[in-house]
Order: sequence, then structure tokens, then C-alpha cells
Amino acid sequence: MKEMTLQTKVKVCSYDELPSEDKEVVDAARAATANSYAIYSHFNVGAAVRLGNGDIVSGSNQENAAYPSGLCAERTTIFWANSQYPQEPVEVLAIAARNDSGELPVPIPPCGACRQVILETEKRYGNVIRIVLYGSKQCYVIEDGIKALLPLSFDAGFLE
Ligand code: THU
Repeated sequence: MKEMTLQTKVKVCSYDELPSEDKEVVDAARAATANSYAIYSHFNVGAAVRLGNGDIVSGSNQENAAYPSGLCAERTTIFWANSQYPQEPVEVLAIAARNDSGELPVPIPPCGACRQVILETEKRYGNVIRIVLYGSKQCYVIEDGIKALLPLSFDAGFLE
């Protein structure tokens, strides 16, 4: 039997070490945590995207008493961006989170469902999305796009 190794490259740095263009998107994600509606989990997530035209659009998680009816910050943001700017590719995605104690020191990665939506967004616009995960002590930068976070993924190619 042959073995297949799938590698994920993640750059680790502090917020201060991020390039200024990344900081702008991260700052929008951090600010968006303030608009999170997370009365059940008390886990406030913000996301922001930089679009092909340079605009930065942000969003946050929106919860619901019927828990699965809520939506993560990443999907809220991407769907809103795609519905308002259908021609503009999503080039950078930043994610940040806070809880009742403040900003999380470690980066929070997107959940599985959000990864699938990020994959679809890459396919839709034909570009790799730079993913920047913010933590107050440490940030992760994923330059290779969603394939780093969702290897062996299912996409429309299998439906052909
Ligand atoms: N959440 C996000 O918004 N993004 C993630 O990547 C992980 C989780 C939200 C969903 C829910 O409102 C809360 O965080 C707790 O899971």
C-alpha cells in the first residue's frame, strides 16, 4: 500500500509582524466581533474579507434559539460579500474571536462547514484565498488557501 502525505503550511507570527494589508482585514474582523449576536455561546466571532476591488467587508456570528439556524461569522461575511459584490473575488479572509474574558490569545480556525464554503468561493472566483487567523498572542497566515485546511475536499469537479 502506498502512503500519501498531505502537507499544510501555516506561517506563525504576532499581530505586529503581520503585513499592514493583513492588519487592515484583521482589524475589521476584530471590530466585527462587537456586532456578533452570540447570546447562547458568549463566543463572539468576527470575520472580514478583502475583495478584488479592495473593499473590506465584515460580518459576525448570528445565533438563534434554534441553534442550527444560526450562522458562523465566516459564512455570514462571505455570503453577504458575494451577494452584494457578485463580481468581486474574495482575496483575503481574516477571522478573530472574543469571549467574556476578551480577545482569544490563540487563532480560531474556521469550522468544517465554513471551510466547505471557503472552498466553493475559491472555485467560484478561480483564486486562492489568503487566510489570516488572529489571536492576541499569535496569528496564523495560510497562504495556500483552503486546500491547506480542507485537504481531500469534495467539490463540483466530482459532479461532472
Ligand atoms: N463560530 C463562528 O462564527 N466561526 C467559527 O469558525 C467557529 C464557531 C460561532 C458559531 C457559534 O455562534 C459560536 O461561534 C460557538 O460555536
